[in-house]
Amino acid sequence: MPELGICLSGLVGFLLVLTADARVGNSSQLSFCTETEQCLLFDLICDTDEYEVRHYDSVKWVSTDETHFSMDIATMKAFRRLFDYINGTNENGNNIKMTAPVLLKVSDTKYFWQKGTYTMSFLLPLEHQKNPPKPTDDKVYINKMPDMNVYVKSYGGWMMSWFDQKHASDLSSALNSVGAEYKKGFHYAAGYNSPMKIFNRHNEVWYVADDEPVCPSSEELD
Ligand SMILES: *[C@@H]1O[C@H](CO)[C@@H](O)[C@H](O)[C@H]1NC(C)=O
Ligand SMILES: *[C@@H]1O[C@H](CO)[C@@H](O)[C@H](O)[C@H]1NC(C)=O
Repeated sequence: MPELGICLSGLVGFLLVLTADARVGNSSQLSFCTETEQCLLFDLICDTDEYEVRHYDSVKWVSTDETHFSMDIATMKAFRRLFDYINGTNENGNNIKMTAPVLLKVSDTKYFWQKGTYTMSFLLPLEHQKNPPKPTDDKVYINKMPDMNVYVKSYGGWMMSWFDQKHASDLSSALNSVGAEYKKGFHYAAGYNSPMKIFNRHNEVWYVADDEPVCPSSEELD
């Protein structure tokens, strides 16, 4: 039955396109993503009192590294550089829409007297996922992250280094106590709000899962 074959492969193709597109999507699908049109979407694998497990597909980001003693100062400098990229400092002079979250990769092994290297990333909107405009600042680069499972803990208020460290350390203790395997030495801080927003702010800390994520079976979703 050739028609059925064509029909099925068409359907599979359609579903593949749908899932590929669904990863950077309409923010109305995420309750805590309120300030941008597009957000990074995910599949929720499970949810516990201590953390969520999410699956993220591979997506492209625009990133920059900044080395400083202070996470908060590194954050400001890196934000400025990435903001310039989306505000036209790129090969095509494109204005690119802001998305959420803004991701910051933070080393866990830095003492306060040491400099740390922080990598900040803006998620490229759907229309620029395939062919992102080339950055013209040589400190800015396009970064394709692999698909991954992450352990996530959310918190309100401001994403400052002290809060970020406290929540990261709480999350890693919770993961250690259930024997979860995750990439050690760094975590991600994810921010969903501009500094202008005062109430109902949403921030997250992420650890990248190694192996099968640990989900208490009673709370697993189907
Ligand atoms: C996002 O979804 C909302 C509600 O479904 C819709 O009104 C809006 O037009 C969508 N935005 C985009 C950019 O697709
Ligand atoms: C964005 O780019 C425009 C045009 O180059 C410039 O006038 C404006 O000041 C920039 N905005 C910010 C916040 O840097």
